[in-house]
Amino acid sequence: MSASPGPARVIDLLGYEVRVAPWLLDESGRLAAQVAPAPTYAIITDANVGPVAAPQLVGSLRHFAPHSRVIMQAVTPGEQEKSRAAWTRLSDWLLDERCGRDTTIIALGGGVVGDLAGFVAATFMRGVPFLQVPTSLLAMVDASVGGKVGVDTKHGKNLIGAFHQPAAVVIDPTVLQTLPANHLRAGFAEIVKHGVIADAGYFDAAVRVGVSITTADATAIAWHGDELAELIATSVRIKAGVVGRDEHERGLRQVLNFGHTVGHAIELLSDFSMLHGEAIAIGMCVEARLAEHLGVACVGTAGRVERGLASLGLPTAIPLSVTGPALLEAMRLDKKSRSGTLVFALPAEVGAMADPDRGIPVEDRHVEHVLASLPVP
Ligand SMILES: NC(=O)c1ccc[n+]([C@@H]2O[C@H](COP(=O)([O-])OP(=O)(O)OC[C@H]3O[C@@H](n4cnc5c(N)ncnc54)[C@H](O)[C@@H]3O)[C@@H](O)[C@H]2O)c1
Ligand SMILES: [Zn+2]
Repeated sequence: MSASPGPARVIDLLGYEVRVAPWLLDESGRLAAQVAPAPTYAIITDANVGPVAAPQLVGSLRHFAPHSRVIMQAVTPGEQEKSRAAWTRLSDWLLDERCGRDTTIIALGGGVVGDLAGFVAATFMRGVPFLQVPTSLLAMVDASVGGKVGVDTKHGKNLIGAFHQPAAVVIDPTVLQTLPANHLRAGFAEIVKHGVIADAGYFDAAVRVGVSITTADATAIAWHGDELAELIATSVRIKAGVVGRDEHERGLRQVLNFGHTVGHAIELLSDFSMLHGEAIAIGMCVEARLAEHLGVACVGTAGRVERGLASLGLPTAIPLSVTGPALLEAMRLDKKSRSGTLVFALPAEVGAMADPDRGIPVEDRHVEHVLASLPVP
């Protein structure tokens, strides 16, 4: 099923455009030729995404940049490929293909491909232009926006990387038709987060559209393509608004960490068997309760967040296998603790954060109290 793309929503961010429209992949070659013309386009994708999305991208490049060479590499899907080994392999591939500084890299995939290909682009020949073509919902509303690229090490995720802004971000929500349902729901967790931190009306819209998409079959994505494009564009605008004020993450990005102090700890304790979005859904519920307990958030905030996330099929309670002390310990390992005291990004209500610029230090006894009073799953 294909149709011509309607007018794209365009968000300006740090000197480049994020474009969102159904069927935009068919136009991606035109955009690439405009913002990053190159004799060689090197597409980096993964083995799940390549077969479903690369034909459209390659076809569009051949049409709009007929004199350019198009080469492609697909990595094995999964976080384990966000590694220095994969970075080496891909950099060597570019050298073997005699690519130079005038090469444009195109990251076609989820956040793993975006971070990895972006890091290759940041370092190859000391930095070449790249295009982000995110294909998972999480990558569309989060990973592709902001210019953070990098790889994992055995000591932790994202420990080696760079800030490298893309030449453009091309978002076509219809590619989500093939995204597995659990990844689609997990992406909605970040969208809900954007609603909580910035806009109550958007929070309600996100839950409404999210429910109609996540409870239907994949064809619903094509039918809701325009609504979904609007939702994604608003999420990008909210993240871009924060990132634009704090390109190199000196503090203001703190609001984006709502749900993440607890969420990262749960992700770690689940040995990463839980998806990031699932873990932060739980994290948002716990942190919203903490905000209410501290008197920082209006009564009812946590209930509203929990109901929204639950209606999207996301988990809202800490797994039975995770104990309070283990969770506190894991939170302390996270980089967000400020000289031993845990720091949280907490809401004042759905749509507004309590201390948008700094994060709130919270004593352990308050966290312990809230953890002890949570409902069991
Ligand atoms: N750079 C940032 O600012 C930032 C922000 C948030 C997350 N991240 C990173 O993003 C990564 C997670 O991203 P993710 O959730 O997209 O994971 P992912 O890239 O592993 O994609 C999830 C799965 O969905 C598949 N997939 C993606 N799009 C598809 C499609 N359209 N059709 C079929 N299958 C598809 C992938 O092959 C993979 O199996 C993590 O490494 C995280 O650290 C980065
Ligand atoms: Zn996140």
